[in-house]
Amino acid sequence: MKIKVGLVGCGVVGTGVVELLLKNKEVIRKKTGIELVLSKVADKDWSRQRAFDVPQELRTVNYEEVLEESHVVVELVGGKGFAKELIEEALKKGKHVVTANKHLLAEEGRAIFQSAQERGLCVGFEASVGGGIPIIKAVRESLVGNNIRAVYGILNGTTNYVLTRMLEEGVSLQDALKEAKEKGYAEADPSLDIDGWDSAHKIAILSFMAFGGFFPFSGVYVEGIRHVDLLDVELGRELGYALKLLSIAKKREEELEVRVHPTFLPEEDPLAKVSDVFNAIMVEGDFVGKVMLYGRGAGAYPTASAVVSDLIDVSRRIISGTPCKESINWEDKSYSLSDNFYSRYYMRFDVPDKPGVLASISRVLADYHISIASVLQKEKVCKLAGREGEHVVPLVILTHKAYERNMRKALEEIQNLPVVIGSPVLIRVEEEAE
Ligand SMILES: NC(=O)c1ccc[n+]([C@@H]2O[C@H](COP(=O)([O-])OP(=O)(O)OC[C@H]3O[C@@H](n4cnc5c(N)ncnc54)[C@H](OP(=O)(O)O)[C@@H]3O)[C@@H](O)[C@H]2O)c1
Repeated sequence: MKIKVGLVGCGVVGTGVVELLLKNKEVIRKKTGIELVLSKVADKDWSRQRAFDVPQELRTVNYEEVLEESHVVVELVGGKGFAKELIEEALKKGKHVVTANKHLLAEEGRAIFQSAQERGLCVGFEASVGGGIPIIKAVRESLVGNNIRAVYGILNGTTNYVLTRMLEEGVSLQDALKEAKEKGYAEADPSLDIDGWDSAHKIAILSFMAFGGFFPFSGVYVEGIRHVDLLDVELGRELGYALKLLSIAKKREEELEVRVHPTFLPEEDPLAKVSDVFNAIMVEGDFVGKVMLYGRGAGAYPTASAVVSDLIDVSRRIISGTPCKESINWEDKSYSLSDNFYSRYYMRFDVPDKPGVLASISRVLADYHISIASVLQKEKVCKLAGREGEHVVPLVILTHKAYERNMRKALEEIQNLPVVIGSPVLIRVEEEAE
């Protein structure tokens, strides 16, 4: 059967989808019996050179033509303005939607999914998380028999590239970022990636799926890598850890923790070995245990692959005539997000190399029931930090698991101790150990 597919937004991903649909049309038909026919492709500007030459007869600048001529509308414009209006209009006109728009779904997904559900229409969003990694399908279908306890992983290729260069080659954050831009791994303005928002949008969407409910995106804790110091990457490595920008969602009874921040992982952890622009996502279910998916989390081709997977799912619905209700298999439930995480911590203080310093810091930690797991003090600070001439040494304290609120209060007090110079560094550590 023929399914008419219209696309709006022919940029990086849109062009990849057009190329895939035209080049692999026969492959898809042979495997599925479905013929995906591109009806129209809309973009504001066709004068720009694209990686693939979109046939003239498919091009339009009028998105309404796409709505008129398709069973399924693929939204690849991005952002929350026009993209939202387009999706709403498509659903009102009875069209199924496929989108890669993590920003929109993380912040306003609830209304969009409800609107689709009321109309028995599908909103496919595999491409919104993990690029070519089929994580949405895995959580929704393959792991459906499990209570999901946690979902966490490396969801942003740009930051993973930067941290990999810092860890493996001792390159500074600024230089690694410059390299990432030169290689096309980072946008001219990489703030969405570097400041953790891209990862936060993705972990929010994964949490909706994994835990079957919604929460306001504003409750997600987001800390990017902009302020990561090479000294901490190196000290962490000496302690057996790799620094990653980890996106974490965990369920404790009826409360969720959803957070993104630089995180030390034991170097033997499978996620610690995920390097360069690659992404990986770990899902923990009560029956399946841990499952990890790994692959390219962005780029025209991997993302196009995910879009086409949704197109086939939607097409099967259209052909069978079944409404899409159960394809969004969560209840309309609201979660409250906790900010009192329970984690191990790495702390670094710049202190004078003299007796009594450690005692005064550990006294404050004890007051907040935070127990020290190990301490590292570097004598050769100059070599490590490039800070010749300063009479301070970095003192690193690793804690056992502690509550975030206690840790923040303790840190505030420690920062005001006369022996502590400058601002302390706090990095969370994810590992099984207590
Ligand atoms: N790039 C990736 O690797 C990747 C991976 C996963 C998910 N995504 C998501 O996929 C979506 C698209 O990303 P992208 O990287 O392909 O972005 P992009 O290259 O900027 O493409 C967006 C396209 O939409 C066009 N557009 C903007 N407003 C329009 C309008 N009113 N009508 C018609 N066309 C319009 C843009 O034209 P102008 O350039 O002229 O504004 C551009 O050609 C985003 O939601 C993104 O988050 C991207």
